[in-house]
Amino acid sequence: MDVNEASADIIGGAHAKVKHDSAVRHVTGRAVFIDDIPSLPGVLEAVFVISPYAYAKIVSIDISKAKAIDGVHEVLMAEDIPGQNDIAPVFKNEPVLASEVAEYAGHPVALVVAEKYDIAFHAAKEVIVQYKVLQPILSVEEALKKKEYTYPPQIIERGDPIGAINLAAQKISGEIACGGQDHFYLEGQIALAQPGEETDMIVYCSTQHPTEAQHGVSKVLGIPINEVTIEVRRMGGAFGGKESQSTIIAAAAALAAAKTKRPVKIRLRRDDDMVITGKRHDFEFKYVVGIDDDGRIEGIDLDMAMRSGNVADLSPGVLARALCHGDNCYYLPNVRLNGYPCKTNTVSNTAFRGFGAPQGMLAIEVVIEHIARELDKSVDEIRAINYYGTSERNVTPYGQVVKDNIIVELTDRLASEIDYEERKADIEKFNADHLTLKKGIALMPVKFGISFNAPHLNQAGALVHVYTDGSVHLNHGGTEMGQGLFIKVAQVVASVFQIDINNIKISATRTDKVPNTSATAASAGSDLNGMAAFNASEIIKGRMTGIAAKHFDVLDSEVEFRQNRIYAGNESISFAELAQMTWAERVSLSATGYYKTPDIYWDPKKLKGNPFYYFTYGACVSEVIIDTLTGESRVLRADMLQDCGKSLNPTVDYGQIEGAFVQGMGWLTSEELVWDDQGRLLTHGPSTYKIPGSRDVPPEFNIHILEDAPNRFPTIFRSKAVGEPPLMLAISVWLAIRDAVARIGEGRLMPNLNAPATPEAILMAINDTRQRARK
Ligand code: MTE
Ligand code: HPA
Ligand code: MOS
Repeated sequence: MDVNEASADIIGGAHAKVKHDSAVRHVTGRAVFIDDIPSLPGVLEAVFVISPYAYAKIVSIDISKAKAIDGVHEVLMAEDIPGQNDIAPVFKNEPVLASEVAEYAGHPVALVVAEKYDIAFHAAKEVIVQYKVLQPILSVEEALKKKEYTYPPQIIERGDPIGAINLAAQKISGEIACGGQDHFYLEGQIALAQPGEETDMIVYCSTQHPTEAQHGVSKVLGIPINEVTIEVRRMGGAFGGKESQSTIIAAAAALAAAKTKRPVKIRLRRDDDMVITGKRHDFEFKYVVGIDDDGRIEGIDLDMAMRSGNVADLSPGVLARALCHGDNCYYLPNVRLNGYPCKTNTVSNTAFRGFGAPQGMLAIEVVIEHIARELDKSVDEIRAINYYGTSERNVTPYGQVVKDNIIVELTDRLASEIDYEERKADIEKFNADHLTLKKGIALMPVKFGISFNAPHLNQAGALVHVYTDGSVHLNHGGTEMGQGLFIKVAQVVASVFQIDINNIKISATRTDKVPNTSATAASAGSDLNGMAAFNASEIIKGRMTGIAAKHFDVLDSEVEFRQNRIYAGNESISFAELAQMTWAERVSLSATGYYKTPDIYWDPKKLKGNPFYYFTYGACVSEVIIDTLTGESRVLRADMLQDCGKSLNPTVDYGQIEGAFVQGMGWLTSEELVWDDQGRLLTHGPSTYKIPGSRDVPPEFNIHILEDAPNRFPTIFRSKAVGEPPLMLAISVWLAIRDAVARIGEGRLMPNLNAPATPEAILMAINDTRQRARK
């Protein structure tokens, strides 16, 4: 079968608008999450004892009182770890349980294992830890000043940025910052470890990365990888938060299970989940840009300082992606992007939808806005003259040629379809007529690189079995977190065999079925696993074709799989009949498939190469209104046009666009992480941390998938990855709020408004703009 083309005469093949395989199970409560697995006999529950201090030496831990409590089985500390106390995903020495020092308020220092959750929860308070409190570093600013990093700063550089800035007609500089974000998955971090024979261990874990959880358990228990199995059927959301940090939970549960020889479950309650596990990185940016008289960028020097937290975790990848998206859609001829992974005594930040790209893009968008305000031109005009070209001005700062650029067509099309210019004029009029309410509008273009920015991670495997009744079992290394990966891959398999989707059994991800996998992340899940499953299915189909050819006494090339049957001329048999026949001929109906992304390379030292196989594009215009007396804001309307290539499943992709946009809106408007002056997170539950609700969804919310736009590079049926890119479309909301605030100062003053633009922040920015406008 041609990987570029799928025909459509079966139910639920590639490109069909089929619903998520678990949609009904999700809404009826029949979907089994880890906490729904019927209780195992003798299961224990465990609760972490955490450090109340941001930075403290652990002097002693007295567990005697806690251990004496009825129902408590074990209180485990770092010294109880038989293997290595290290679950670092990239570097080394990132412990499961703090041993000598606690490096953030919330750092797990011990684990109480008891008959029931409540017993463990109360006993955890009876573990007496003596600390010697040390002076923490709590801000990015302070870490920068002291040059405290979790690993060395990273620079992407091209040309002569400083020379170009100095020679430019105008030089502009400024600062901006954006906050972090809690993943707020509905299902918190959870793992259930079940000891097997001898030292074998199986862990049911809500993780995007079963292989890394398997490695973590193997390391911590000091047993070979082949004694550990990780299984995950689905997660109740992950958003990057379960890419590396779920390993902490898996490894701790396995440790407790190994010690007690009983199954052990760790399910973090919401407050603990928010305090113990990492979030999106907050960033502080500083820029100096040199422009010509039209506002074209000649040179730019942009500092990106991120809150890495107490350890590196996935920060290297996140920072590299932030730097690689500091261009967004704009050509930066002379450029220096300086990345600082600041080490702070706060929880180690981690992957979150966009993986640094949203932060990098936000920074360059502010630069574009600044140029426009300085020159008193429209932001859209400045965007347009700085966009990447198609045949020249098309090389990114990291050296990749942008070969599939559609940003101009895409933004022009969106602008014309929504009468953008007219609406801008209407807003001018509205603002002239209204004193307290002000409207703002902004367009956000997005170019997002697809592939893990570490080439070796871009590989995947699949396992397909055909049974003798024609039913098919599908397994692959990807994980399901609600994004619809499983249905998409099943559609691929249905297309290869030309059988209806209900014949394909979707199964849980397991490290003993498909080994050595990458995290389901970087939006690449369907690209990678879809292709691996395609390859596995093609192998089996090839064998079945041979059997059919023999049966019909024709050439292989005359055999056709069509509408659940196998044809040769006028004769046909059912798929099930051929499966039975293949078995009877003693030919294997099972195969593994493998795929690796071609044409990508990356020099991690120079930060140069061709890290992305292709780019996914999108654009969004958001219109907002703010109340200048209260600082409240509402999004009135959002229109977006998202590139999905030739979508594998437009229904699923539509949901991804919708969800990502609203999640991005939350990051930029209402979700605010607040720590006290001791480094303790104050916003650790829904009462203080505000994620968007259904009424925050724009009343006019128009999502369009770009049609007739197959991926220019060969991917599975020419589809494109879509999981993360639309989150960045929400930057239009924040830019529109800034636009509304700027109207108070006649539009030429840059509003002093960071992200998130909470009502308080907006109100302060309004007052600040008003004061500056008077001067
Ligand atoms: N959608 C849902 N419903 N839940 C999630 O946790 N995670 C996002 C995105 N969409 C997520 C989601 C993130 S961070 C990524 S990288 C991709 O899904 C991963 O899946 P994919 O590669 O299959 O798109
Ligand atoms: N995205 C998500 N996870 C990753 C990446 C990435 O680009 N690189 C390494 N881990
Ligand atoms: Mo997504 S942040 O790559 O898990």
